[in-house]
Amino acid sequence: MGQHSFQQMHTSMNLVLRTVVVDRDAAIRREIKSVLAGTDLVCLVAEYSDCSLFPASADLPDVVVVGMDSDTDSALDLINRLARQVPRCGICAVSRSSDGQLILRAIRAGAKEFLTLPVQLNELVTGLRSATGLPDARGRGMQSCQTIAVAGAAGGVGSTSLAVNLASILAASPERAVVLVDLDLTLGDADVYLDTIHEFTLADLTRNVERLDAELVRRSLARHKSGLYLLPRPVELDDANLVTPEPLRRVLGLLKATHSHVLIDLSKGYSALDMSALACCDTVLLVTQLDLPCLRNVVRLLKSFRPVPGLSEKVKLVVNRAMPESETIRLKRAEEIVGREFFWQIPNDYRLMVDVRNNGVPLIAQAPRADITQSLFGMAQALCGDGKSGDKTAGRSGVPAPMFGKWFKFLSSMANKSSLTAH
Ligand SMILES: Nc1ncnc2c1ncn2[C@@H]1O[C@H](COP(=O)(O)OP(=O)(O)O)[C@@H](O)[C@H]1O
Ligand SMILES: [Mg+2]
Repeated sequence: MGQHSFQQMHTSMNLVLRTVVVDRDAAIRREIKSVLAGTDLVCLVAEYSDCSLFPASADLPDVVVVGMDSDTDSALDLINRLARQVPRCGICAVSRSSDGQLILRAIRAGAKEFLTLPVQLNELVTGLRSATGLPDARGRGMQSCQTIAVAGAAGGVGSTSLAVNLASILAASPERAVVLVDLDLTLGDADVYLDTIHEFTLADLTRNVERLDAELVRRSLARHKSGLYLLPRPVELDDANLVTPEPLRRVLGLLKATHSHVLIDLSKGYSALDMSALACCDTVLLVTQLDLPCLRNVVRLLKSFRPVPGLSEKVKLVVNRAMPESETIRLKRAEEIVGREFFWQIPNDYRLMVDVRNNGVPLIAQAPRADITQSLFGMAQALCGDGKSGDKTAGRSGVPAPMFGKWFKFLSSMANKSSLTAH
């Protein structure tokens, strides 16, 4: 498989190699990091200046890039230790020298690749690919992440409501790590829906992107009771300018490397930032209501997405505030207008939605049995489930999708605990 198709595969599967760099020499670490920054394949999760500081039992990365030159014996020891303890970890030795003896020692210690500095991006990508044996490393613990952007066809269509509640439903599964990023930088209100107190915002992370690693990202996110992590919009209006596409791309890369699901609540501006988030996600939920101004915007948006490679295929249209008894005909007509089928319908329940927002409690906690919550469960299952049980037609018809397996058990246990409202 050539490098090009490999990168395509990586992008389409959204695999990110969590990478650690170890070298005493800061200049070498910098050199490697600057090459790594050129690819989405790699996310630097940590760097160590001393081989002995490399943790014995931490959440181990996919690749360790070990510098050989500043302390060769410690580097060989580390390679040896890692190769024995974590055979799935790709070990890549790097050196300014291409001395045959050194290469042999590194390979004998357990390095799977040896790269000579300075290294070009394509050599590095090929080296890391080979070190991890990527094609068959899938499913052996390599991180994969699903990234969902939630966009809206007009202000007030309910994109934030759906983003927050879908994210908190996904976060209810303990094996998932879900983060919601509020990209509505000026007026975003995802934090209101979750009633969280946060110390850091998206602006803090993009401002410090050079220093960021996975641990720092983890510590800067606010965690809601539901298990959902939130990265809120900047506090000050002026700070919105600090968030620019390239640092955002890197922050999103780190979030993808450290979470199973990244949800992004876009602004309604379709700015360069929104477009860069759209470019790096797997799915775009474009939320609309069934009125003419919204549908006209859906048509315009779909048309403007067309020239962007891969974007149209990622879009799924979601009707919010659907009213099944009166809307069936309108739904068909609306599908004709926009030229594609709707992926899902979320029922209308204004009182409940206003309640959950005012209380800062997600639907899954306040009203797990409500139609709207069940419809969102169904959508979560169709988007992120195992693909066997998602019942698309149920969601499309506006009738709540049935509960399945794990979700059902979870939901029942929530309802049984029942200080919760039964609907
Ligand atoms: N399915 C729904 N049924 C009834 N009201 C809803 C629904 N979804 C959202 N709303 C309400 O619509 C308003 C706008 O929602 P919001 O999520 O802030 O929209 P957006 O983020 O697209 O601007 C809020 O008052 C919210 O409570
Ligand atoms: Mg909003």
